[in-house]
Amino acid sequence: MERDSASRRLFLKSSAAFGTAASYSRILGANDRLRLGFVGVGGRGTGVANTVVNLVAAGENVEITSVCDIYQPRLERAETRFKAKGYARSADMLSSTSLDAVVIATPDRHHVANTLEAIRAGKDVYVEKPICHWAQFDQLKQLVHENRKIGRIVQVGTQFVADSVWEKAAEAIKEGAIGRPVHAQTCYFRRGDQGERGMKVDDPNAKDGLGVDWETFQADAPRRPFDVSRLFQWRMYMDYSGGPVTDTYPHMLTPLLKMLNPGFPKKVVALGGRYYYNHEREVPDTFDLLIQYPNNLTVVFLGTFINATRIDTLIRGSEATLTRKAEAVTIEPARGSAVVAREIPADIHSFGEGHAQQLVAHLKDFFDCVRTRKQPRGNLELAYLVQTPLIMAMQAHLHEKVVRFDIAREEMRMV
Ligand SMILES: NC(=O)c1ccc[n+]([C@@H]2O[C@H](COP(=O)([O-])OP(=O)(O)OC[C@H]3O[C@@H](n4cnc5c(N)ncnc54)[C@H](O)[C@@H]3O)[C@@H](O)[C@H]2O)c1
Repeated sequence: MERDSASRRLFLKSSAAFGTAASYSRILGANDRLRLGFVGVGGRGTGVANTVVNLVAAGENVEITSVCDIYQPRLERAETRFKAKGYARSADMLSSTSLDAVVIATPDRHHVANTLEAIRAGKDVYVEKPICHWAQFDQLKQLVHENRKIGRIVQVGTQFVADSVWEKAAEAIKEGAIGRPVHAQTCYFRRGDQGERGMKVDDPNAKDGLGVDWETFQADAPRRPFDVSRLFQWRMYMDYSGGPVTDTYPHMLTPLLKMLNPGFPKKVVALGGRYYYNHEREVPDTFDLLIQYPNNLTVVFLGTFINATRIDTLIRGSEATLTRKAEAVTIEPARGSAVVAREIPADIHSFGEGHAQQLVAHLKDFFDCVRTRKQPRGNLELAYLVQTPLIMAMQAHLHEKVVRFDIAREEMRMV
């Protein structure tokens, strides 16, 4: 429904072509150094690599062996900064046997193809959120089903979920600490379009072919003539991004769904648009959605990039209310209820300094899972359950329809 079949065929073909690297993986012994490659070394890739460098200095047994980018100046910068071997094509990097895992920090539209290519080459993956672009539900489904067979470790970069408080709260909910969850809310409020129009243009005179691989950059998006803004400020465009709902909402929906464990949604309604930042940006700046789950649970997600005043993340149960505070999750019984009040302390403060600590914890969780083969906190199956209602919301907004989900067939339907 979300893409025409020609572009879907193009994706499947190109993802198969991507997957030409020979499969090589090794079982890491306790003392073996984990060898890491980076695909995409722009803003986020560089930030994550810097964090890895700090972790190595603190004793983590990891090394960055290779880096890849389709923009040559960034590739050269990363080669020098991280003393790593550079590649212009990820398939060439993956053919190297000096790699155990990859960090993928390319634009959204590449995440599924980059991940498929890496798992087919026998690598474990830390892939940035969102797990896919809003027009790629079928490709996401294909990735999830394929990895069920291949069994690689895939951690999605929703680092807010790195705190153990969410698992503890999920356990408490399962044991009946709030009665039956019926209603939940969360949000993502921010002020400013620095993440879209504010993206840095490294070179206003950049040209396709001169250190820029524009064809690869476009992935399975509709073909456009080369454009400097599309290359450097891609988050402004619907071809490559989707605005708050698919870009930032995975951060908050992932921990909420980890606590609730509701499975696939039944129905999604949504409203959004460009309410304020109307200049060249295409993606919405404001977006609200309601998700209904089959077990009579509604999740409300509110957000705008125009004003940063938040609402609490909370779950209303038949017996109590669970609230995410900065340093704990609290459970407050309803008047007359027999359940007990309690507080579950968080590992990490949820604001300010906490953001850097969340990334450290999320990377460490990934490294640990690569060694132990346990499922990471932001695993692919959870990301599938998170991104599905967010993609449904985008479709609901674009088509002004209610979007239903056929759980047995894992398909979206507009009504
Ligand atoms: N977890 C977080 O908090 C967080 C924060 C920021 C960004 N992100 C995510 O990280 C991703 C990257 O965002 P960014 O701000 O760094 O963008 P960016 O444009 O700064 O970096 C992306 C890089 O990928 C390169 N690239 C594009 N296609 C490629 C390909 N096929 N192979 C190799 N390199 C390729 C580009 O040339 C660019 O250098 C996005 O998906 C974004 O949502 C996550």
